[in-house]
Amino acid sequence: MALKEPENYLLAIDQGTSSTRALIFDHTGRKVIEGYKEVPQYYPHAGWVESDANEIWNSVLSVIASALIDASIHPENIQAIGISSQRETTIVWDKTTGEPIYHAIGWQSRQTLQLAKQLAHDHGDAIKAKTGLLVDSYFSATKVRWILDHVAGAQERAEKGELAFGTVDSWLAWKLSGGKIHVTDYSNASRTMLFNIHELKWDTDILDWLNIPAAMLPEVKSSSEVYGVTQNFQFYGVEVPIAGLIGDQSAALLGQLALKPGMVKNTYGDGAFAMMNTGNQPQTSAHNLLTTIAFKLNGEITYALEGSILVAGTALAWLHESLKIIDNVPESRQAAMASTDNDEVYVVPAFNGLGAPYWDPDARGAVFGLTRGSNRNDFVKATLQSIAYQTRDVLTTMTQDTGITISELMADGGASRNRYLMQFQADILDTPVQRSSDEETTALGAAIAAGLAVGYWQSLDEIKDIRQAGRLFTPDMEADRRERLYAGWQQAVAATRAFKP
Ligand code: G3P
Repeated sequence: MALKEPENYLLAIDQGTSSTRALIFDHTGRKVIEGYKEVPQYYPHAGWVESDANEIWNSVLSVIASALIDASIHPENIQAIGISSQRETTIVWDKTTGEPIYHAIGWQSRQTLQLAKQLAHDHGDAIKAKTGLLVDSYFSATKVRWILDHVAGAQERAEKGELAFGTVDSWLAWKLSGGKIHVTDYSNASRTMLFNIHELKWDTDILDWLNIPAAMLPEVKSSSEVYGVTQNFQFYGVEVPIAGLIGDQSAALLGQLALKPGMVKNTYGDGAFAMMNTGNQPQTSAHNLLTTIAFKLNGEITYALEGSILVAGTALAWLHESLKIIDNVPESRQAAMASTDNDEVYVVPAFNGLGAPYWDPDARGAVFGLTRGSNRNDFVKATLQSIAYQTRDVLTTMTQDTGITISELMADGGASRNRYLMQFQADILDTPVQRSSDEETTALGAAIAAGLAVGYWQSLDEIKDIRQAGRLFTPDMEADRRERLYAGWQQAVAATRAFKP
């Protein structure tokens, strides 16, 4: 009897803020296995959020190993690797030793607040016109400057071409290739605040204003092509093509197959990021949304309008890890369902300021509407509701900017597993919410990018049915109540912003 040919697969790495996953997909787009590992975060000072780039790398090695071993798949049967990763997080490393010269400065970190304020004052309008971004410490640019200022000798070494800068995609491609490639893709580059999204190149004016040497920067490539091959022990000498690099929010848009202009997804991860596909033209926002590059596929750039909500799942982790009022994050659903108050408590989780559409870096978290009867369940419910209210803030703004009424919101990400949150989201938006059947939409986007690059799939048309529709949440709230609750949220945000200790 002839032996059955072993099947071929794609390996997707999804490197998020607080965790790393490796997922193996088959030709039908089905997830075969998943490896998962948490990544520690460090908070050296108030408002600073850092991680260790070597811990990120080791978490990737560990999840790849566990996925391959658990599924008994030999590396030879991995056709390509795609990487979706947290964006903006900034790593600078020595090109010779491969050692980072400082911690990875996280996208949420606020240590460059003052520098960003100064830059906004001096060049805010020009930077917005060039990059599509509002000047904020969220993006990589000021973080690179901070590392060059705070690590002895770094500026000089960077000028001599001895140091490399990269977001997490660049770092992982460098490590996987054994230091052979220093690349990024258009989606990740567009989040550095150093990249001109119209001219499609690093912007020399911004580099000059921040005195960042161009020699540090990665080469910008499409989101789907073979950049290099693996060179490390995990692959037992097998050279697997590294064939997809894409920012995690763009990957979710691709994984949702939101390929037509006007389609909108919201990914409920550590933050929540609503993105509207705006096709091959950048759409500017009059209301503080970001214009960004979704991806470059088949030689074509797709732009997006983005509303970045800085705190979503992080608020649920805070309930569990810091306040310890839930034993685990999924328990937040039961707590919210058990709440009997009339939704009069509001939590505004502005832990690191507020993102879109407010962009208020000085705002700090607040709670409103407490009574003697308020209890833990009400508090948990209000925290979940804050994620949905913030999403309404950004989707309303998107409609104002584009004139497009959003007929359905595509939802994915870890916190989208919470049915209470999804139903409240549909209610407060008065819009149906279609949750992806598999929360790992982001990883699927990375797999699609890699799969197209190596001919595992021939075209997007071939995979148009890959996405399985999940649960649909339909709005079920009286208009009066919906608008009264949302007006309360708007008051809570205004009061939060007014508080400047
Ligand atoms: O912009 C930050 C974003 O890319 C991080 O995503 O999945 O860690 O919430 P996540």
